[in-house]
Amino acid sequence: MSKTPTLRLDRLLANLGYGSRREMQALAKNGRVTFDGEPFRDADKHVPVTRDLPDRLKLDGKPIDPPPGIALMLHKPLGTTCSHKEAGPLVYDLLPTRWRMREPAISTIGRLDKETSGLLLLTDDGALLHRVISPKSHVAKRYRVTLDRPLRGDEEATFAEGGLMLDGETKPLLPAVMETLSPTEALLTLSEGRYHQVRRMFAAMGNHVTALHRESVGGLTLPADLEAGTFRLMTDADIAAVFA
Ligand code: URA
Repeated sequence: MSKTPTLRLDRLLANLGYGSRREMQALAKNGRVTFDGEPFRDADKHVPVTRDLPDRLKLDGKPIDPPPGIALMLHKPLGTTCSHKEAGPLVYDLLPTRWRMREPAISTIGRLDKETSGLLLLTDDGALLHRVISPKSHVAKRYRVTLDRPLRGDEEATFAEGGLMLDGETKPLLPAVMETLSPTEALLTLSEGRYHQVRRMFAAMGNHVTALHRESVGGLTLPADLEAGTFRLMTDADIAAVFA
């Protein structure tokens, strides 16, 4: 059986973004931290870092944030950028402010363009991130595409065949599955993720994407009740669904 990891209280809370270790020492000394209902005054002492920690460790009576090893699903709204650095609204602005100070940091699993909406996954778990984006995992992504002009009719076959060469690239595309929904709407399922791939695929067919929305990542579909701009923690079942 593997040993439960533990961390000094001041380091744990500082890593969760609550403040400096010195500030955490003071909070604990003042009796503001409880563990299983009892004041936890010595912040040099270790606490077990388990999934249920928020049920046991409270700050001012409130459950602490989930410990490292989290994954989130976010309904990315239009106009937000998947970057830590750029100006303008960032997807990270949609998370609680404190979470921006977390160590390890939370990052997006892959990216969506500023003008793409839909399912975006985030995690602080580097191994999970790499598992999702690794070509070996075959995690397909499904997009709902709205086009400027009616489809020509040969798009489904062209994409299914693979081999399409995008402007400026040297490696042909893998086969992709397209389903026509209306003359100007389609679902496109990709098993790779190149820069602006969906937009460039339709540009190669002489069309222009006017709206792009990601509906699913692997077997995980954006929940209908997850409103644009909101997120939720992923359960083990959600993570398993990504790889299903
Ligand atoms: N393809 C694109 O063109 N944009 C995205 O955001 C995702 C896939």
